[in-house]
Amino acid sequence: MNPTTNIAVRAARQAGNVIMRSFTRLDSLTVSEKQVNDYVSEVDRNAEQAIIDTLRRAYPGHSILAEESGTHGKDDFQWIVDPLDGTTNYLHGFPQFAISIALMHRGRLESAVVYDPLRDEMFTADRGGGALLNDRRLRVTEQKTLKGALLGTGIPFRDQRYIDAYLGMLKDLTKETAGIRRPGSAALDFAYVAAGRLDGFWELGLSIWDFAAGALLVQEAGGVVSDIGGGSRHLETGNVITANIRLHREMADVIRPHLPSDLRA
Ligand code: IPD
Ligand code: CA
Ligand code: CA
Repeated sequence: MNPTTNIAVRAARQAGNVIMRSFTRLDSLTVSEKQVNDYVSEVDRNAEQAIIDTLRRAYPGHSILAEESGTHGKDDFQWIVDPLDGTTNYLHGFPQFAISIALMHRGRLESAVVYDPLRDEMFTADRGGGALLNDRRLRVTEQKTLKGALLGTGIPFRDQRYIDAYLGMLKDLTKETAGIRRPGSAALDFAYVAAGRLDGFWELGLSIWDFAAGALLVQEAGGVVSDIGGGSRHLETGNVITANIRLHREMADVIRPHLPSDLRA
């Protein structure tokens, strides 16, 4: 494992401790609404601080983009941090949330860590070095058809601009597949595609910290990630499809007719 990935693992474990300490006293947390349906608690902030402290100690010159505190420093190396992905789940005691940490060098993903502290599942990837769940090597599924496929998704809950287009995609993919899941943590959704637990996943309107690590996990597990319109600007647009290459094409064919003109590649 690359030294940078190792440091990210250490940072993720520290954040995991912060998150799990408070999981038994959710009623006493102070929660605020950043924007409609977008909640943040002191746990998100404390977990983020723990990650930043660890990354800073190891790599004082690197830049950090973190969901709750924004950009720290300027450098060719940039860490992308989501200290708690799935905050709404967490605050409800719904057991699906994770920590996501990625390292980019001049816009190229180098290291990825997605950590599920409840199940103690550490998903890691180094560019060119494959993806792991704890010590086990990961591979996306070989599911070639929508028939029989299990897909993950995210239902729009903040920005409702594309809700009708989204519901059209959901309807058609529901008819064609074995089932659709909305677990509520995009970072883990990507990790599950990498691990072959989901055959594919799509969502509109993600932020880069939700899936930068997840994207490298899937790529290193042999899968593809693209913008929902088919291009490669997914990290900028936040509109994504991911699966193995065959299923990705099948999903894109069903999704395409529902895309509003501004989401086409
Ligand atoms: C959210 C989760 C969710 C996705 C949202 C994200 P947060 O992240 O990844 O699955 O649907 O778009 O914002 O706010 O819990 O860190
Ligand atoms: Ca997130
Ligand atoms: Ca978050």
